Amino acid sequence: MTYFDRRDSGLCAEGVPLPAIADAVGTPVHVYSAAALRDAARRFTAALSILPRTRTAFAVKANPNSAVLHLLAGCGFGADIVSGGEMRRALGAGIAASDIVFSGVGKTDRELADALDAGIGQFNLKLEEEEGRVLAALAQARGKRAVAVLRVNPDVDGGTHAKISTGQRENKFGVAIADAPAMYDRLSRLDGLDLVGVALHIGSQLHDLAPLEAAYERIGSLVIDLRARGHGITRVDLGGGLGIPYRVDDVVPTLDAYAAMVAGVTRDWDVDLIFEPGRVVAGLAGVLMTRVIWVKPGADRPFVIVDAAMNDLARPALYDAFHRFEAVAPDGERMVANIAGPICESGDVFALARDIDRVRRGDLAVFHATGAYGAAMASSYNCRPLSPQVLVDGDQFEIVADRFLPEEFAA
Ligand code: LLP
Repeated sequence: MTYFDRRDSGLCAEGVPLPAIADAVGTPVHVYSAAALRDAARRFTAALSILPRTRTAFAVKANPNSAVLHLLAGCGFGADIVSGGEMRRALGAGIAASDIVFSGVGKTDRELADALDAGIGQFNLKLEEEEGRVLAALAQARGKRAVAVLRVNPDVDGGTHAKISTGQRENKFGVAIADAPAMYDRLSRLDGLDLVGVALHIGSQLHDLAPLEAAYERIGSLVIDLRARGHGITRVDLGGGLGIPYRVDDVVPTLDAYAAMVAGVTRDWDVDLIFEPGRVVAGLAGVLMTRVIWVKPGADRPFVIVDAAMNDLARPALYDAFHRFEAVAPDGERMVANIAGPICESGDVFALARDIDRVRRGDLAVFHATGAYGAAMASSYNCRPLSPQVLVDGDQFEIVADRFLPEEFAA
């Protein structure tokens, strides 16, 4: 089921014809479907209900829009954050501090202190000295104990794009699994820290469960080892990473298959399991609507120049990512074209030699599956505005982030 379907009035977001949004808000614009978000959250929770004790923290980096976070909080999700900015977004959206997990590859002392003061529920530690010991000291000075887990790098290749792979030994994430037991011993002795378990995350847009299963099995062995050393392990954070179908015929693991795999691997763990999904919750719940500025002849095929650019959707330029392109009111003809934005950089290309709906100057179109890592990664490169964001719910829509003009940025 998709929430961006074609009806008599053209392509709609739920019950709202997309041209109505373009007329009211302009383009480019990120459009989210509340029903799609709720549905994805509900399906994630339902699939995991075969597991005894779980908590889900939405990866805010995927979509930090306050209205989206508020909606997901209403579905029972906490938040996985990686910066002070994300912490403020999550708290501001009504997510309880105790439901927030602070991951983050480099946390400044200021961020650690602010998170302690806010009462963040879990710190995912990646470093002994500058993070573990600093956090312990900051907590002690406040008469608190910081609840923490140790983020471990299981050295497993997730089989995804190199730039979004995080679980191999050469990556910057987590402590080497071989070093984890001794480090855990030392950290657990610190007053100010309440070390309750371990965490991992091997990468994003994973399209195969096997690497995840291998990584979870390694973590299972580590849990046994840590318990043998006398540690009370009560929590394991399994991260996020599940892929979504960007192409119509992409095959990705079902949530039920994922849950069954987790149930099998973790059967004897006797811990609370934390999940940090991002893309699988928000990815298919958004489109980026754009207007064709003009169609320019090219050497081999035409360039469709649209008013969205790599500053609105960086994934194609960064990872050669595929986002399906669809005209809002197609005329039934097709064309083979390159699709590019107006930014002065050759990398500002969304697709090369793509068979697409025929479009002409002024036509509206969308890039699909931009609800995760779309607006979240926007920039103002070329002094372009940050595009607005709209949340559709049924036959209503509201602007949940205004267009942010370059004149409003600091000069
Ligand atoms: N937890 C941790 C510790 C993470 O590093 C990430 C993503 C997640 C959870 C959420 O992963 P997800 O369920 O969304 O796969 N900008 C890239 C994706 C970067 C993901 C980084 N970490 C993209 O557009 O593909």
